[in-house]
Amino acid sequence: MRRVLNIYRSTVGKKVLMAASGIVFTGFVLGHMYGNLKAFFGPETFDHYAEFLREMGSPLFMHGQLLWLFRIALLLAVLVHVVPGIQLWMLSRSARPVKYARKLDTLETTVAARTMIWGGVLIAAFVVLHVLHLTTGHLHPDFEPGRAYNNLVLGFQWPPIPIGYIVVMAAICLHLYHGVWSFLQTLGLNHPRFNKYRRPLAVFVAGVVFVGFISVPVGVLAGWLTLN
Ligand code: HEM
Repeated sequence: MRRVLNIYRSTVGKKVLMAASGIVFTGFVLGHMYGNLKAFFGPETFDHYAEFLREMGSPLFMHGQLLWLFRIALLLAVLVHVVPGIQLWMLSRSARPVKYARKLDTLETTVAARTMIWGGVLIAAFVVLHVLHLTTGHLHPDFEPGRAYNNLVLGFQWPPIPIGYIVVMAAICLHLYHGVWSFLQTLGLNHPRFNKYRRPLAVFVAGVVFVGFISVPVGVLAGWLTLN
């Protein structure tokens, strides 16, 4: 137990936890993005998919039970990501209370790297508003339970909402880009032989997620996704 605690107390231990939970989130966003694309196949396909999410695991699990297990697992992953993330951020601040007079661009100090903590705060705020908007409907004036496609398209009718989603997706993908780049390093893949693949892989994952996610708000703005 003490060994586990000692590993956690180390910077590397915290980074490994963040990398492991980051992989869980990457899997979640890829899956969620793929699921969202079903909107382009029409209301029936999309509503059927939304119903499947609640029915999955049947008959072993009752309606919605497996989905709740996934939600709990995701919430645990959030804790395992956010707590060490804040601790590392506070450590780096206390290690250098005075800001650098000039930032070195030779290191991996990109915009993405320097804004990780604020990207994280934005993602947390977005997820809360987003669930209230499209899952529970508390922030959606015309929400009808069981009509996922209509709720989605209706929820994007006022242009500032889909535009806001697109802007937030850009910030999320910047976070994801740097996350993928750094977890490859944390997992020990910063060997010169692999280094040249790290950035392209991070750009690829973040790019696919960005294009996939924004296709839905763009689809509504462009009139490709309409109410049935
Ligand atoms: C334009 C981008 C996005 C669209 C169009 C979208 C769409 C949706 C829709 C329609 C639902 C409701 C599904 C249902 O109730 O069956 C949902 C749920 C959810 N979304 Fe998104 N989403 C987007 C981006 C994101 C991102 C980037 C995240 C996370 C970082 C995210 C996290 C969630 C979560 C946690 C839920 C609740 C799942 C549950 O507990 O049932 N979404 N999304």
